[in-house]
Amino acid sequence: MHVAIIMDGNGRWAEQRGLPRTEGHRAGARAVRRVVEAAARSSIERLTLYAFSCDNWERPADEVDNLMLLLRRHLIGQVARCVNNGVRVVFIGRRDRLSPDLVRAIEHAERLTAAGTRMTLQVAVDYSARAAIIGAAQAAPADASRAEFSRLVGEACHAAPGDVDLLIRTGGERRLSDFLLWESAYAELVFVDTYWPDFDEHGLAAALAEFRARERRFGGLPAEPRTAGAQAARDDRASDCRAD
Ligand code: IPE
Ligand code: IPE
Ligand code: MG
Repeated sequence: MHVAIIMDGNGRWAEQRGLPRTEGHRAGARAVRRVVEAAARSSIERLTLYAFSCDNWERPADEVDNLMLLLRRHLIGQVARCVNNGVRVVFIGRRDRLSPDLVRAIEHAERLTAAGTRMTLQVAVDYSARAAIIGAAQAAPADASRAEFSRLVGEACHAAPGDVDLLIRTGGERRLSDFLLWESAYAELVFVDTYWPDFDEHGLAAALAEFRARERRFGGLPAEPRTAGAQAARDDRASDCRAD
């Protein structure tokens, strides 16, 4: 199962307490550790966390610097824990605009955790779903068939090996903010009012319970059997439909 989280509400959490926004981001980083550990103990195979969007560069430089510093510190501090918990860490998004120090920390974390098999943690940094889709479209050969094109875009969007099953957004907003647009075609969306720094294993368990109570139909009828053959036929129809 692939769960994706838009970790929103750090700033408002801090403002509510009369603290600077940076304190909200620090508390948010602690929440990341709690939720990753809870996820690794659950049935989640892939967890994608939205840490920094391409549009977040629009924020004041000191907030951006603080976010990048926190990211690097926590990455360095948490690698050993990830190795012990069998968590493989990978990053999605652009790397060319990140500081060389942060890129080194990212590559180090990816290398050290590469053998983890319990859960894959995908961290989206300088990420834009639209940019990922456009990049995939530009890279595809002009004579690619529809099915091939669909596969290439899916791969380039990091959809392989699985689309998002459950997408959670904390902080009360009900939007996707350019996150995993391709992979979330049939994701179940759960929006919670809790600000990210207060989100924990109980919030995650509640979202998973809500997910299990939903009926996923993928455009079919409730009773349609979900066989491998039916899935392949659906994929073909979807790629035809998308290419039209
Ligand atoms: C999410 O919290 C963290 C990032 C976007 C990096 P925000 O900083 O967006 O917090 P709010 O939405 O202003 O409360
Ligand atoms: C989305 O939150 C990005 C991350 C959580 C990293 P934002 O706070 O940037 O989104 P908007 O601006 O409210 O849509
Ligand atoms: Mg926000």
